[in-house]
Amino acid sequence: MKKNILIVPGDGIGQEVTAVGKKVLDKIAAKYGHDFSYDEALIGHAAIEATGAPLPDESLEKMKQSDAVLFGAVGHPKYDNDPSAKVRPEQGLLKMRKELGLYANLRPIKLFDELLSASSIKPEILKGADILFFRELTGDIYFGEKGRKDNGDTAFDIAQYSRFEVERIARKAFEAARTRRKKLCSVDKANVLETSRLWREVVQQVAKDYPDVEVEYQFVDAIAMLLIKDPKKFDVIVTANLFGDILTDEASQIAGSMGMLASASIGDGTGVYEPIHGSAHDITGKGIANPMASVLSAALLLDISFGLKAESEDVINAVDQVLKAGFRTGDIADATTPKDKILGTEAIGEELLSRI
Ligand code: NAD
Ligand code: IPM
Ligand code: MN
Repeated sequence: MKKNILIVPGDGIGQEVTAVGKKVLDKIAAKYGHDFSYDEALIGHAAIEATGAPLPDESLEKMKQSDAVLFGAVGHPKYDNDPSAKVRPEQGLLKMRKELGLYANLRPIKLFDELLSASSIKPEILKGADILFFRELTGDIYFGEKGRKDNGDTAFDIAQYSRFEVERIARKAFEAARTRRKKLCSVDKANVLETSRLWREVVQQVAKDYPDVEVEYQFVDAIAMLLIKDPKKFDVIVTANLFGDILTDEASQIAGSMGMLASASIGDGTGVYEPIHGSAHDITGKGIANPMASVLSAALLLDISFGLKAESEDVINAVDQVLKAGFRTGDIADATTPKDKILGTEAIGEELLSRI
C-alpha cells in the first residue's frame, strides 16, 4: 500500500514521542511491504518561532494533501504563564481540528493487564476496564464567540451546539457501540445548560435508530465520580468537547498514565492521530517521556485511515509484549519495577521495534 504520512511533532515531548511513532510506522512498512512516504510540518510554539503563526498555511495545506497525520503535542510554559499573549500554540491545534473538519475524537481507554498496579485505583476495580470515548471536537465553548467587555474586566466564552453537530457524533458513537458491548452513555449537564438539553434531545432521537444499543444518560459531575468508582460499567461514552477533554484526562488513570492514551481525530477529510497528553515541559529534553501514546496513535492510524487491521494489531501486540517483558517508562513504573527495567523514550522504542 502506498501512502503519504505527515509527521507534525509540535512542541516539547511531542518531538520526542512522535519520533518513536514514526519509527514504528517505518518498521510496519518494511515488514508488510508497504510504501509509506513522510513529510513534516510545523505547528504550535515551533511554528510561531519560525513563521509567527501557530498553524502556517503551508502546514495546513500539507495536512489536507496527506493520507494521514501523526501529531505530537503543542504548548509552551511561556504562554501558559502569560494570559495576555494573543498568539498561542494551542490556537494551531484548534485551527487544525476545525479546518480539517475533525469533529470526532476517539479516545480508547484500554488497560493493559500488566499495568494493573501502575494505577492509583485498586486492581479489582480496574481489571477488564475498556471504554471508548467519543469526544466532540469542533464545537462547544472552544469555538463559540469569546472576548472581553467592561474595559477588560468581564470575559466571556460562548458555548454553542447545533443539532447536526450533535447528531453526527452521536451516530458515530452508536455505530461503535454496536461493534462492542452495545452500551452507550451520553454525558451532559442537561440540568443546567441549554446546549446540554439540545444534546440530550438529539441523542434521544438518534437512539431510536439503534434499539439494540442500551443507552444511559449521566451528568458530567456524576460520571466524574462513577468513572473511578466503577470503570467497568462503561462501554462507549459520548460527550461534548470540554467535558470530553476533562473526563479523558481523568480516565487516563484507568489506563495507568497519560503516556498510554492515544486518540484518533476523524471527520470530513484527513484523519489526525494524537496522544491525549500535552507537551509536558516538566519532562521535556530528559528523554523519559512515554512514547506508547504516540505508538498506539500510529496503530489507530493504520487501522482507521488505512484499514490495515493486522498491522495495527501487530503494533498493539508489541506494546503488550514490551509490558509483559517488564519494561516501563517512569510514569508507568511502580515500587516493584526493577531499576534496570525503567527505560527512556528511545530505549523503550527500541524494545517495541524489536517486537514488531
Ligand atoms: P501534559 O499532558 O503536558 O502533562 C501532564 C502531566 O502528565 C505532566 O506531569 C507530564 O509530565 C505527564 N505526562 C504527559 N505525557 C506524558 C508522557 N508521554 N510520558 C510521561 N509523562 C507524561 O499537560 P499540562 O502539563 O497540563 O500541559 C502542558 C502544555 O501542554 C500546556 O501548554 C498545554 O496547553 C499543552 N497541552 C497540549 C495538548 C495537545 O497538544 N494535544 C494536550 C494537553 C495539554
Ligand atoms: C487536548 C488538549 C487541547 C484541548 C488543548 C491543548 C487545546 O488539552 O488535546 O486534549 O483542550 O483539546
Ligand atoms: Mn486535554
